[in-house]
Amino acid sequence: MPQIIEYLHLCKDEVKKSINLAEYFVKPVQQMKSMHTTVVLAMSADGKIADRVRSPARFPSACDQAHLEAQVAAMDAVLLGAGTLRAYGTSLPITSPQLLQQRQQHNQPPQPVHIVCSGSGQLDPQWRFFQQSLPRWLLTTPVGASCWGQRPGFAQQIVVPTESIDWAIAFEQLQQRGIEKLGILGGGRLVASLLQGGCIDELKLTVCPILLGGRSAPTPIEGTGFLADLAPRLALISCRPVADEIFLHYRVKISPQPAKN
Ligand SMILES: NC(=O)c1ccc[n+]([C@@H]2O[C@H](COP(=O)([O-])OP(=O)(O)OC[C@H]3O[C@@H](n4cnc5c(N)ncnc54)[C@H](OP(=O)(O)O)[C@@H]3O)[C@@H](O)[C@H]2O)c1
Repeated sequence: MPQIIEYLHLCKDEVKKSINLAEYFVKPVQQMKSMHTTVVLAMSADGKIADRVRSPARFPSACDQAHLEAQVAAMDAVLLGAGTLRAYGTSLPITSPQLLQQRQQHNQPPQPVHIVCSGSGQLDPQWRFFQQSLPRWLLTTPVGASCWGQRPGFAQQIVVPTESIDWAIAFEQLQQRGIEKLGILGGGRLVASLLQGGCIDELKLTVCPILLGGRSAPTPIEGTGFLADLAPRLALISCRPVADEIFLHYRVKISPQPAKN
């Protein structure tokens, strides 16, 4: 309730009248989920996660790479969009002996599960990702499952019976498989879809000292975007400058209500 009051102060009068706040502030997926989700992304100082040709983001420092690896090491599974895999061809394995030891001490397998979200199933089995020593699952739709077929490469296929992934169903499936801490490694279209579904708890954003610009360069949140009055709201947990980068940690205070299918 305090969140609603806080939010009401931020809304313009006409918006207050036009929305059913009781309905808007419900967090259906989050209320039913016990899984905790954290987006981890690096972006340029002008808010881009890649350049205009969507090259792999190689601009973060070694410090940010270590930060990313530590975040991955803290998870049961990480989720990455097919667009990100198309850009990189690989995912990030944990190689730090300390982090591997830490996982062992917590009775976790050496690597978290790397879950690829692809509605189309149009993934290239020749990508190096499929040779990496990582547990791999595919989160897909019936169309995607039939496109990928019975090829090897994924230990499990989670097929959500909707045209695009319904996150309530997907999260239930992941929880049934024991996933409690899920890292979201991008890109912007995946994050937008999850945010729209009210499925993001925290964001860890690294602001890097580079300007990429460009209308078509992707940002942390793609999709159609939110109107400012109805946009998700964040609370700053921490802000840590290291050399020329800033490590931001936010909690999502208010999520939008998921769109009805
Ligand atoms: N700076 C960073 O930290 C960072 C991190 C990651 C990525 N990136 C950059 O981000 C770019 C890629 O981002 P992106 O936005 O283009 O792609 P993306 O978010 O990685 O992937 C989008 C794809 O994921 C699948 N998908 C997402 N939500 C879905 C849903 N609800 N239902 C079904 N399928 C869904 C679809 O796959 P299908 O097309 O197969 O249906 C969709 O095309 C690359 O340029 C990469 O370099 C940067």
